[in-house]
Amino acid sequence: MNHWDSLSAQQKTHADRKITALFDDPARATDFAVQVGDMYFDYSKTNIDVTTRNTLLALARDADVERQRDAMFAGAHINETEDRAVLHTALRNLDGGPVMDEGADVMPDVLDTLAAMRSYARDVRNGAFTDVINIGIGGSDLGPAMAVQALAPYHDGPRCHFVSNVDGADIADTLQGLDAKTTLVIVASKTFTTTETMTNARTARAWMIDHGGDPKQQFAALSTAEDKTEEFGINPLHVFGFESWVGGRYSVWGPIGLSLMIAIGPKAFDAFLRGAQDMDTHFRVADLHENMPVLLALVGIWHNQICDYATRAVLPYDERLNLLPSYLQQLEMESNGKGVQRSGADSPRHTGPVVWGAAGTNGQHAFYQLIHQGTRVVPCEFLLAATGHEAELPHHHQLLVANCLAQSKALMQGRTFKEAREIAASKGFTDTELDRQARHRVFPGNRPSTTLLYRLLDPFTLGQIIALYEHRVFVEGVILDIISFDQWGVELGKELATSLAPVIDGSKDASNEDPSTAALVDFVLRHRA
Ligand code: F6P
Repeated sequence: MNHWDSLSAQQKTHADRKITALFDDPARATDFAVQVGDMYFDYSKTNIDVTTRNTLLALARDADVERQRDAMFAGAHINETEDRAVLHTALRNLDGGPVMDEGADVMPDVLDTLAAMRSYARDVRNGAFTDVINIGIGGSDLGPAMAVQALAPYHDGPRCHFVSNVDGADIADTLQGLDAKTTLVIVASKTFTTTETMTNARTARAWMIDHGGDPKQQFAALSTAEDKTEEFGINPLHVFGFESWVGGRYSVWGPIGLSLMIAIGPKAFDAFLRGAQDMDTHFRVADLHENMPVLLALVGIWHNQICDYATRAVLPYDERLNLLPSYLQQLEMESNGKGVQRSGADSPRHTGPVVWGAAGTNGQHAFYQLIHQGTRVVPCEFLLAATGHEAELPHHHQLLVANCLAQSKALMQGRTFKEAREIAASKGFTDTELDRQARHRVFPGNRPSTTLLYRLLDPFTLGQIIALYEHRVFVEGVILDIISFDQWGVELGKELATSLAPVIDGSKDASNEDPSTAALVDFVLRHRA
């Protein structure tokens, strides 16, 4: 029997087994957990036992995870459909050991660009800028936006704003109240062709000129397409380039992270890179059975491909990681939301899950009802710091911790009908009404979750967390035998939007559109102001 079949058989055999029963093994809590420095990943509250873990590890070994990991770090062109290396890890290779792409060491350029970013960031931080607007979308927005929010306690530079949506509301609301003479606009776009970003960049430039600012001095660009930044008129001294081997959703470590560097300063940005580098080293050297990204990936494979749980919730009990679920949505869904394997053959199984979530405790008062009592099982991934930044509010953090730990416990334990009946009886219900009321108070339990604990959300830790998830996505992609580093699935919509634009502005009629689209266009044209 192959490993996939064996895992499915194990899942069927143990489908009704209680996770709580697995704790008859007194060592389970620590055996099903792994620590890297100050970071602790607990996966004991899942229905994975020793046999299943061994089979999952065998699946990873047979998929050649170790060899493919080494190939990625060595610059092999594992992004096969674009014939590109995948070397975002070079951007945090602060010790500068050689990293080769097509026979050339990429590190001298990486370190030169990093030095230029540091010097520019220092100038901006020491200069007259009060505000910085990062204009970008997808990977050119979510990484820095998420990280700037996550590291707010370290923010001692100008205010940072992020504009991504082509909806004019985004840029209009952001520009409101800003001083065009003291605002720096950073246009972040790997390709420098993305419609949303270029439209917003042109609007920002017109605003700056209209309000007495000077785009020559107050615009910077982050891109692989330096010819296009020049064409746009950006001062070459303010252009920070990178190479095509950095995927958009993996790009926060280099120039795309400039707004973060300006916000927290080059030193703290270095700590952020060091955290990621630390996770890279762990990923490269730790044996698979104690390798945190590998174990996180195997839990993902178990829940998504074997147990057929279609989604997973990312639940940071850390308000400043509010954007982490959105960030991971792009990282995971754009990377592993594919339908074909590397050979081009249809994938024989589901690929990446739907990733969603929100910060706790807010989610508890919104969607946890379904997580606890709904008919679908949603594996939950909790994240929690042992220490909060608000030393003056220790009771807030204590409550936050209590809530996070209570949720994973409640999901696992549930509440039986007997227990629910006792509660309903204590409320005064009797006879058939007692049973009916009790049924509504039952929690099925046995719902899996993992918890990632860390000491404090500082730059180093954030770097570790992001790199951990990047490598998790990589390992899942290898096991699923898909190409995690292209994103052809975003192209068709972009092409159709381009061809629809003249229909919407009225310069072309809708006769070639399908009847539904034509009717929608007709409504818009008749109802717009
Ligand atoms: O949505 C597709 C995508 O290409 C993402 O992968 C990327 O992060 C985003 O668009 C922005 O692209 P660019 O940085 O080239 O503007």
